[in-house]
Amino acid sequence: MEKIIINGSNPLYGSIEISGAKNAAVAVIPATVMCSEGICVIDNMPDIEDVNKLVRILRTLGSNVRKINNTLIIDNSDLQSYRADSDDVHNMRASYYLIGALLARFKKAIVDLPGGCSIGDRPIDQHIRGLEKLGVNIRIEHGSVIAETDKLVGNNIFFDVVSVGATINVMLAACFADGVTVLENVAKEPHVVDVANFLNLMGANIKGAGTDIIKITGVNRLLGCNYSIIPDQIEASTYMMATAACTGEVLIKNVIPKHLESITAKLIEMGVTIFEYDDSILVKSVERLKGVNIKTAPYPGFPTDVQQIIGVLMSISEGTSIISESIFENRFKYFDELKKMGVNVKIEGRAAIINGVNRLTGCKLRATDLRAGAAMIIAGLVAEGTTEIVSIKHIDRGYPHIEEKFRKLGANIYREYRSDIKEFKNII
Ligand code: UD1
Repeated sequence: MEKIIINGSNPLYGSIEISGAKNAAVAVIPATVMCSEGICVIDNMPDIEDVNKLVRILRTLGSNVRKINNTLIIDNSDLQSYRADSDDVHNMRASYYLIGALLARFKKAIVDLPGGCSIGDRPIDQHIRGLEKLGVNIRIEHGSVIAETDKLVGNNIFFDVVSVGATINVMLAACFADGVTVLENVAKEPHVVDVANFLNLMGANIKGAGTDIIKITGVNRLLGCNYSIIPDQIEASTYMMATAACTGEVLIKNVIPKHLESITAKLIEMGVTIFEYDDSILVKSVERLKGVNIKTAPYPGFPTDVQQIIGVLMSISEGTSIISESIFENRFKYFDELKKMGVNVKIEGRAAIINGVNRLTGCKLRATDLRAGAAMIIAGLVAEGTTEIVSIKHIDRGYPHIEEKFRKLGANIYREYRSDIKEFKNII
């Protein structure tokens, strides 16, 4: 079985480069389906499994995709199919963007229900309701979403919950709707803005992304363009938190400091020193972190995707810390694993009450999902002795070259491959 092995307790020093944002990339790639003329050249693509899966899915639809280093060159002019039903579709979350994108292109989409991290119920009712308001008939049969319409028509849509996925999915379809669509109570995450910027560069007319109201005026076609994905705020947060947990001093390059404000504020509250530059952040650790409280919230609040990671820092901080998880109801499973390392935590519904301990000890862990896997790596880097992490496919879905990046900072971390699959890894 493939695993990550860590010999802990090394401080982190040096600099690392943050990759393109996973959650932007996994929406931009499906959005290219809407471009029937010209070629999309997309730079700063993260080298992660979720991107590889989407590339394979596009190819099953008839897309011509080439990958050169971190650039994807996508020609969707001969796209044939509106049916996305390969294993890759239900092994990831963001395949749901194909519903909006294929509807825009073909007025019909048959897309298997998505998978992704098991962190809660994760319904797609807001996606469906929003698309229905644009005049789409949607039913779920045999594990697939079947969506069709004669004509997409603009409408006013108020989302009941703030959802990244629903905001982007409905925004995609609305680009080709007749007239004006107004989306209210939308997600404001940087990747929502990035997708809107990409669509606008292809010729869409979207205003207000990044605010509470997005206004989309329908257009007839989108054309190819050159685009570069924004830096990954969650990957950057992970390395900022890792530096604080392990002690040391790390310059985190290729970031947008504004996207990291909630993380920076919490780290400063924990006693960490942060210097912000134009496109980098320097993190200097403190001898002992102070306990803090967080409540996860949609952007610009504290991201749920960093909740598991700060949970590790709280585990070794002075005093008591409390996490209130307000986005996903089942995002504390990782603590069952961390308890094996000596973490002192009590879960009460949507809250985790953590009493900081002086040391963690290495052991065998199973990554329960993507961000939990990253949290376990940080716990292993902090812990005394050796930590072995299995089920690392979750981590590969979202973190490019994570062991190499940590090794560059002085960590003792490596991957033990299954000898029979090593040479086929990451081929797309
Ligand atoms: C996206 C991110 C994920 C992040 C999450 C919240 C991607 C590919 N994934 O996931 O990394 O953790 O945003 O920032 O971008 N909800 C409904 N009905 C819906 C949709 C969502 O009730 O139709 C609820 C969810 O259960 C959750 C909340 O809305 O409680 C937010 O979910 P959402 O923003 O949609 O998350 P995802 O798009 O799945």
